[in-house]
Amino acid sequence: AVAPVAPVAPVADGPSGGPGVDVGSRLTTNQGLRIADDQNSLHAGSRGPTLLEDFALREKIMHFDHERIPERVVHARGAGAHGVFRLTRSLERFTRAKLLTDTSATTEVFVRFSTVNGSRGSADTARDARGFATKFYTSEGVWDLVGNNIPVFFIQDAIKFPDLVHAFKPEPMLELPQASTAHNNFWDYISLTPESMHMIMWVMSDRGIPRSVRMMEGFGVHTFRLVNAAGNSTYVKFHWKPTLGVHSLVWDEAQKLGGVDPDFHRRDLARAINDKQYPQFDFGVQLLAERDVAKVGFDILDATKLWPEEVVPVVRVGQMTLNRNPYNYFAETEQVAFHLGHVVPGIDFTDDPLLQGRLFSYLDTQLNRFGSANFHQLPINQSHAAVNNYQQDSAMRYANHPGNVNYEPNSLGGDATEAPASKGGYVSYPEIVSGPKARARSATFSDHFTQATLFFRSLTGPEQQHVIDALRFELGKVSAPAVKHRMLALLANVDGRLVHEVAVGLGLPTPGGKVATGVKPSPALSEDRTPKSPHT
Ligand code: HEM
Repeated sequence: AVAPVAPVAPVADGPSGGPGVDVGSRLTTNQGLRIADDQNSLHAGSRGPTLLEDFALREKIMHFDHERIPERVVHARGAGAHGVFRLTRSLERFTRAKLLTDTSATTEVFVRFSTVNGSRGSADTARDARGFATKFYTSEGVWDLVGNNIPVFFIQDAIKFPDLVHAFKPEPMLELPQASTAHNNFWDYISLTPESMHMIMWVMSDRGIPRSVRMMEGFGVHTFRLVNAAGNSTYVKFHWKPTLGVHSLVWDEAQKLGGVDPDFHRRDLARAINDKQYPQFDFGVQLLAERDVAKVGFDILDATKLWPEEVVPVVRVGQMTLNRNPYNYFAETEQVAFHLGHVVPGIDFTDDPLLQGRLFSYLDTQLNRFGSANFHQLPINQSHAAVNNYQQDSAMRYANHPGNVNYEPNSLGGDATEAPASKGGYVSYPEIVSGPKARARSATFSDHFTQATLFFRSLTGPEQQHVIDALRFELGKVSAPAVKHRMLALLANVDGRLVHEVAVGLGLPTPGGKVATGVKPSPALSEDRTPKSPHT
């Protein structure tokens, strides 16, 4: 079993106040005035009322009263680290992005690992997907790769996301977390959403309870596009492969750790960096020529499908090392703002309807989180490439474009913002789109079970048993019989033995469906040959 680890010593780099903060030994007000007494407010007489005049008291209390900002609506609980990314193999044939072509460059990064479901104060080891978001501070601007530790997602279209999240967040009447009580809402929603079955297999597997964030894979999930200097496009999926291998807890450990040490993952990450056991991840790409899309057998715009790695191998082209803990949780890990729309020339989008919706959601929610449009000026979010435009003002703005010209086009202030493609300006890939407007889903998105079956059958015997046990545990907490029956009907489409074992565990009859074939362990879906931990 994994024992809780000792508290983390102060980070090796030593405390620093961060940008603009002097951590001297003298207390001051926010105006820099030295404070003589920070423990007693200003009274009329030693036992009399406090005076309105006490500016130091009012400043201190006012600031405290406003310390909180809204937590993220999803992925609220996270832990971050700084690091560097080095490219080992140029992708020049496929992209003109400098960070993916210049093998001599070192790109600074900030990574935030998170759970999806829990609130900011929830336990690290809960069964859940994990966020794996990376901000690359490239010479051409910020690129954010906002991924998860699971290569597929629950839903195919972003319009379903609010319902999915409502169903898995605490139920609305008593705000009881679904994970510890009824489970009704989540499984009700899932039982009516067959497209989620592939993701459900992953979340119910050992992948849903990682041993450490240092031992997780990361996936960009969507199909993206790389575009080279000649303007040619190649489809791409992005991957992170931990050099420590992929390791998980077992459910019993995860539950106990959730009580004994709810900070298990963030402590583990910080301690490893503090001890110079720097977490490392290989960066890989799956590349697919436009003419080869049929090879993967599924619609590449469907985020509930992966590209089997034995069909489209993952080519490792770089490595990320996380080597510095944040100086301050709030300033960096809480205030970092990731967004899929942060791209650099040579990286572009596809029409995946989940991806397209995400392109709206992140900036929108961050406006709510920060209360101002200027969060890009926070140090953790600042581009390391020069920022130059005429956007101005709004709350908490601390720098505007200098000079007397704040519009374009202009002839008085110089050609401030125009950078044609030939000079590195971002140009969207000129994909040709056509067709009638329709609220419809392509028929190519309709196979919800083949990859769920492939995944389940690729697991070893003990790993399959963990999925069965997880489903028995989860569905065993559902009090609505109709939900259990619908879930069994969906599982029957995945694997005959799986549904039978789960039904037996629930004391319910097994519905008909796919007959279990000889269940033999196979590495079918993964090229990962790193040793498995005894915990998986
Ligand atoms: C946050 C990944 C789908 C909306 C996040 C974060 C990650 C992530 C890693 C945490 C970022 C951080 O650490 O700050 C994913 C993946 C998805 C997905 C891999 C599917 C492939 C969606 C969809 C929507 C959405 C479909 C909405 C339409 C959000 C929002 C946040 C968030 C609102 C909070 C952002 C913030 O407050 O900064 N997502 N997400 N996500 N995601 Fe997603």
